[in-house]
Formats: sequence, C-alpha cells, structure tokens
Amino acid sequence: MSAYALASLLHEGKAKRVHATDRPDLVAVEFKDDATAFNALKKAQLSGKGWHNCQISALLFEQLASQDIPTHYRGLAEAEHGGNWMLVRPVRIIPIEVVIRNRAAGSLCRQMPIHAGTPLEPPLLDLYYKDDGLGDPLLTEARLERLALLTAEERADVERLAREVNTALVKVFDRVGLILVDFKIELGYTADGQLVVADEISPDTCRLWDRAVEDVNERILDKDRFRQDLGGVVEAYGQVLKRLQGVCPEPLIYR
Ligand code: TMP
Ligand code: ASP
Repeated sequence: MSAYALASLLHEGKAKRVHATDRPDLVAVEFKDDATAFNALKKAQLSGKGWHNCQISALLFEQLASQDIPTHYRGLAEAEHGGNWMLVRPVRIIPIEVVIRNRAAGSLCRQMPIHAGTPLEPPLLDLYYKDDGLGDPLLTEARLERLALLTAEERADVERLAREVNTALVKVFDRVGLILVDFKIELGYTADGQLVVADEISPDTCRLWDRAVEDVNERILDKDRFRQDLGGVVEAYGQVLKRLQGVCPEPLIYR
C-alpha cells in the first residue's frame, strides 16, 4: 500500500498534470505524451514521451541531489502507475524561466549574429517571464525590476543555483557523450522558504547533441527533432535515457 493517495487535479500544463495527494507535503506530477512547440502552435501526441521525460527527470534530479543541489523531487511513483508519475514537494513556482546556454542555438541564433554551436564562455544566462499569453518574453533588467518578482538577493540566489545546475548537468551529460547546448529550468520556494529546482529536466527542456555525430541534424537528441520535423523524437529521448541509465543509479521509488 502506498504512503499517499491521489487527490484533486491542481494544475494542468502543456506537458504535465499536477495532482494533490492526501498529504500536504507531497504532490504528484504526471508527465503527458502531449508535445507542443512554438507556444503550442505546433502540437502532437508522442506515445512514450511522458514516460521518458519522467524517467530522465528522475535520474537528473537525483544527480543534482547527489551534488547537494536542492530540488522538489521525492521519488518516482510505483511502477503500477505506469512510470510517468513522480512525487515532489509542493513549491511556489517563480514565474521566471531561467535559460542557460553553453553553446549558441535556437532563439539566440535568431536574435543575435552568432553561429549555431559557438561555445559561450562563461555560459549565457537569460531570464524569461513565464506567461504563455505573452509568449514567455525575454526580460530586460528594467522589466525584471518593474515586475518586482524577486528581491536582488533572491535573484542572485536564483542565478547562482541555476549556474550550479548547469555545472552538474554538463558533467553528467559529458560522461555519456552528450553536449548540453542549453536548457531551461524553473525554480520555486518550498513551504519552509527553501529555493529548489522544480518542474522537469528532460529533452523537452534541454538541447542535447551527440558529441560523436558531425551531422547537424543527426546529432540532435532533444525536442528540436519535433520542432524541426526531423522525426525519431521518442527514439532520441530513449537514447538519452539509456545513456543516463548507464551512469546513474536506479531511480528511487517513493513508498
Ligand atoms: P530557445 O533557444 O528557444 O530560447 O530555448 C532555450 C532552451 O530552453 C532550450 O533548451 C529549450 C528550452 N525551452 C523550454 O524548455 N521551454 C520553452 O518554452 C522554450 C522557448 C525553450
Ligand atoms: N515549450 C513551448 C511550447 O510548448 C515552446 C517550445 O518548447 O518550443 O510551445
């Protein structure tokens, strides 16, 4: 018997549903097979995507925890739930998407005169306002201040934590022959005021290139395969999971 029972749906996003449980210190996240891109202008159902992203996120959250980086993750739900459910601590999400770029790609190459793949040292950190209705706009210093979502000290904590996440993730992906080009994370505060990494970390939210492959399309093992109609999306996510499983311990099951 589980130590918790599922309760009402709290929130449904594009890729996940968040459910309450009968415990105030635990919420259940269900990873969906829905794929969206370009602020949901492009949509598809990709069978197995939710399962892969849940498993990959679990392994990566555990890697972060092993480096003393706090996350909302508590463990995977028991396999009978299908492998696309994760238990996490409830957090108040900061409505800011933090993007760290180790190499130029995506929107950076559309907005700046820089070639895809150019190394960025130090890694570039961009903040976006998390609001689908507004298309998640890139924030300027002045707009961030005007929004007053964070004090200067909180903002420094957010950026420090995001850079620590980058260092840890670059290391783990490097061990499995993948280049972490860039990624987006969301952070939040727990009930006791701790800043933690929340949401998911998966090929939906990271750009990952196979280091051993030269071809600019074939090397892509992330959601760009969907964005650019390259096919083999879930197969690519499967590659990422398989490689991580080779270097990470089995994810823990929350009981
Ligand atoms: P970008 O190049 O489109 O700005 O994306 C940077 C990174 O952020 C990339 O790894 C994909 C990720 N990302 C999300 O996770 N969600 C989003 O809504 C967007 C636009 C990007
Ligand atoms: N996450 C956004 C969407 O679902 C944009 C993207 O990832 O390209 O539309």
